[in-house]
Parts: sequence; C-alpha cells; structure tokens
Amino acid sequence: KTPNDVELLGEKYVTDEWTNVTPKIIEKLGRTLHTTKYHPLSHVRQRIVNYFYGNYRNKCGNPLFSVFDNQKPVVSVHQNFDSLLIPGDHPSRSKTDCYYVNRDTLLRAHMTAHQSELISMGLNNFLVIGDVYRRDEIDATHYPVFHQVDAVRLCNNDEIFDSVNDPEGLELFENRGKESKEKQAVHSLEATKIMEHQLKRDLVGLAQVLFGKDVKCRWVDQYFPFTHPSWELEVFYNNQWLEVLGCGIMRQEILKNCGVNDRMGWAFGLGLERLAMCLYKIPDIRLFSSSDSGFLNQFKFDDPNTPVTYKPISVYPQCANDLSFWLPENSEFSPNDFYDLARDIGGDIIEQISLIDNFTHPKTNKTSHCYRIVYRHMERTLTQKEVTEIHSEISRNAAKLLNVTVR
Ligand code: PHE
Repeated sequence: KTPNDVELLGEKYVTDEWTNVTPKIIEKLGRTLHTTKYHPLSHVRQRIVNYFYGNYRNKCGNPLFSVFDNQKPVVSVHQNFDSLLIPGDHPSRSKTDCYYVNRDTLLRAHMTAHQSELISMGLNNFLVIGDVYRRDEIDATHYPVFHQVDAVRLCNNDEIFDSVNDPEGLELFENRGKESKEKQAVHSLEATKIMEHQLKRDLVGLAQVLFGKDVKCRWVDQYFPFTHPSWELEVFYNNQWLEVLGCGIMRQEILKNCGVNDRMGWAFGLGLERLAMCLYKIPDIRLFSSSDSGFLNQFKFDDPNTPVTYKPISVYPQCANDLSFWLPENSEFSPNDFYDLARDIGGDIIEQISLIDNFTHPKTNKTSHCYRIVYRHMERTLTQKEVTEIHSEISRNAAKLLNVTVR
C-alpha cells in the first residue's frame, strides 16, 4: 500500500485530487447495520420487505420482489450519476456533497446507483437496501452515513392493463406523444396513470402499515432527473409534514439503455433512519451507530412489528464552544469541509455544529465565520478539559488544513 492508495473493504483504490473520503468515514464502511440482528434499522427494513413480499406474489405464491442488501457501497460515477441521466453539471455531483474515492469512484450517495445494473441483469421487481454516504451539516437528524431502501417495479403491456375490463386498444407506448406535466413523451397517458395509481396505492399502504391505519398522507410534486413524473410522500407526524420518500415513473431512456424495450416502471427511495426515528421516537441519529447496550437492548425482540418507544438512557450534559475564523482569501472554503475536519477529530461526540455568525468586513472585504460546536457524549459526561483539547485541535487543524485564520 503506497501513500497514493486507499483501502476500502479490502480493496485498494488509487487516490487523486478528487479524493475527499476521510478516515472517520472509511471506518464506517462494512458495518451493515441494516442487516444486524435486533438493530432498529433492521426491524424497519424487515417490515418494508415483508410488506412487499405480502403484496406481490407470483402464480406459485412466491414473493415477486427480490431483495439485494449486500451491494458494495463503493460505486462508479457512472453508476451513481450517468446511468441515471444526472447531468454533468448537476450540483449533487459536487465534491462538497459527496465522498469521492477518486475522480471515477465514490461512496454511493443513494441506493438508486444500483438500479441500472440490476435491471440489466433482467430483474423486474426488486428492493435494494444499504448504507449511503453524503457530506452534510451536523445535527440530530443528519449523519454522513445513513440507510436507504430503493425499489423498482417494471410492467409490460399485459401486466399494466390486466385489471382493466376492456383493455382493447390500450397501449403502453405512444408514437408521436409529447412530454407533459403528467407523462413522458413515449408513454401513453392511460398506462402512466395506472402505474402512478399502483405506486401511490402501494406507498400509502406502506405508510399505513408502518404508522397505523389513520396516518395522514399527502403527495407533493417533485423533480428527479431519473423519473418523470415524480412525487414525494409526506406523512403528518408530530404536528408537522415529514417527507418520507421520493418516487416516480422511471425515465424510459434508462430502461432502453438497460436493454428493456417492452416495459415501463416505477421506482422509489426512502431513508430508514428517518422512519425509525419517528416510529421509535429516537431523538438523535448518532444513536444508530452507537454500540451502547442501553440503546440496543431496547430493540431485542424477534417480531419486527413489536411496538416500542425508545426510553432515553440518561441524558449527559452538552458543552458548547465557539470558534471564529477569517476565511482564506485565495482559496475556496465550504462549510462542509470544516464539518468533516471537525468530525475527523471529534467523531461522534460532536452533536451539532451551526454557523452562528457570518459577516464580511466592509473595509478589508474579508469574511468571518463563527461556528458553535456542541459536544455531548452518548454514554458519559465529558469534562471541560477533554472538550477544550478537542476544540483546540480542531482550531489548529482548521488553520493548517483549510487555510483559515483563527480569530
Ligand atoms: N434517489 C432518490 C434520493 O435519494 C430517491 C428516489 C429513488 C427518487 C427512486 C425517485 C426514484 O433522494
């Protein structure tokens, strides 16, 4: 292993000027919480899988959906973006949002990265579940690693119009169609509406299975480069509308590129942490990666449908420290760079970082940021001395690595 290599899950990758995956993130690869027995994420995962197994059976009574939960999180730029028609200049590709291994390789930012491959293998109904990686802010609901369930269902002409009394003359594709708000150019409006109806029915059904029959749901129009039309499902929870998943009718071009010419499809993607936090009233996303038995023992049951409300293990005090610095004048600075640097040093004892002040000096034109870092250990009380040491190290490293001038 040379200094220009990085090892991920037992494989070596060459690094280059695009590399921004950090040691703290590399440590988190391969934990497979979503398939760890008794882990809350695996309970929620199992409930979703059971729902699709139960809803769709083939003629012999076997589940129609195949489940993939073992795909490697290291993917190509082609898988994560190009295969999904995400434009070359789309902001989601940026280094400030993704963890790149090198110019062509990254830690997948969504499970949709595996869609084209699985379709090319000939699959028509599948769920693909795993850990995804995104650079983001740091607080109780954001963590650089989280888990998603993606699903795809492809149907041919007969399957779509199966339930129609007199399907004579109904066609999936349309020859000289135009794209509208409601459909893609190549699809007939009838086929699109039936697929939309099935998709929405299945997903509202899933929300009811998870949150109870009386859950209030609403659909919001959305945009994704890989689906059209696209929607987001929101559920009313804790007195507010919470976005739980994105979905839509798959872009036909994606299917064509996979060699599929006689089917159309729907797809959706949802985040497991967000669901589990609501279902079990888990207040902090860091708890999912904690190995604390006080947390994990509360989920030791075999039936994933067991209702539980998480009881906080005693809450240890927070300790807030501020850090102000002038941004570098000649190089770029992104708050996400600072968050990763702080996370690399402080790890999971950092509960939240917020930008509390941002001003540009009228004379010198220099910009200053002030960040408040809230420290809290999940399992014990931190001493001020401990916090001061970490805080100063963050300050020293920010000066050294990000070219900022600490004030
Ligand atoms: N990949 C999308 C996300 O991460 C979710 C999605 C999946 C949307 C499939 C539509 C279809 O937000």
